[in-house]
Amino acid sequence: MVRHDFLVVPRGGELKSGFGRWVEDTSRSIGPIILLGPPGAGKGTQAKRIAERYGIPQISTGDLLRENVQRGTELGAQAKEIMARGELVPDELMYDMVAQRLRQVDCEPGFILDGFPRTPAQAGWLDAFLENEFFENSDRDRCVPIVIRIGVDYNELLCRLTGRRTCLASGHIYNVYFQPPRVADTCDVDGSKLVIRNDDSEEVIGERLKAYELQTQPVVDYYERKGRLVSVNGDLPADQVAEQIFRVIESHGAVEVKDASHGG
Ligand code: AP5
Ligand code: MG
Repeated sequence: MVRHDFLVVPRGGELKSGFGRWVEDTSRSIGPIILLGPPGAGKGTQAKRIAERYGIPQISTGDLLRENVQRGTELGAQAKEIMARGELVPDELMYDMVAQRLRQVDCEPGFILDGFPRTPAQAGWLDAFLENEFFENSDRDRCVPIVIRIGVDYNELLCRLTGRRTCLASGHIYNVYFQPPRVADTCDVDGSKLVIRNDDSEEVIGERLKAYELQTQPVVDYYERKGRLVSVNGDLPADQVAEQIFRVIESHGAVEVKDASHGG
């Protein structure tokens, strides 16, 4: 199934000293970070931590689609039933939404893609968008995307997804088994109500996992072939997963390449 070549991070190991300066020196050059992993792997959890540490936005295509559903947009109407079944929304519906978001000014220093790309066609579209628009029409450094695959034991995923609770106001993520809120059903940060996502029923989770294996695992292979994939062990507690990811990002640093279209 999934191959793991995990980074070795000492238990309880910490990233120390000099970090503030690192951010200052390279904050304009972090570039795109792509998080890959099955439903429940912790993409959202880790994207929020990366966003907080490096001051770059989390772009979750799942969250963007859910916002569209909530606002009753045309895209939301097209996506609603598909998402409720646990299937992927067609590629063509994704591109405009992602392009519009990546054109916003807060993406300039870099951004975290959580849940995109999810098919080889989306990966190809993203490469072309970065090359032909994102880097081409600006003074941005050409940073090769850092692609991080969060590997998690499949038996763990069901528990993570059925136990997930999300805050209505800002999407803070909890888990009744692993990361419970201090007060039941209430967000620690903003006191808003915690809800269960409507695609977190066991039946729909099964469909989402199937979609991942069939449609998104080839994206993992796509980046692996290009030599851009780094895997981290997502079975560990969230803090330790975050430490591995920070190490990957900081060892990658500001990579400037002359020809960004060929990742190796
Ligand atoms: P999306 O919202 O992206 O859902 P997903 O990929 O199924 O992933 P999840 O959000 O369920 O999991 P996660 O990895 O973010 O885990 P989390 O951090 O929450 O997509 C939803 C739908 O939108 C799709 O099914 C599709 O229909 C559509 N869609 C979206 N993007 C698309 C695209 N590009 N193309 C086409 N369609 C698209 O963590 C899960 C739980 O585990 C939480 O409770 C958390 O507290 C807990 N947890 C996290 N880390 C740990 C840890 N280390 N230890 C213990 N517990 C942990
Ligand atoms: Mg998520």
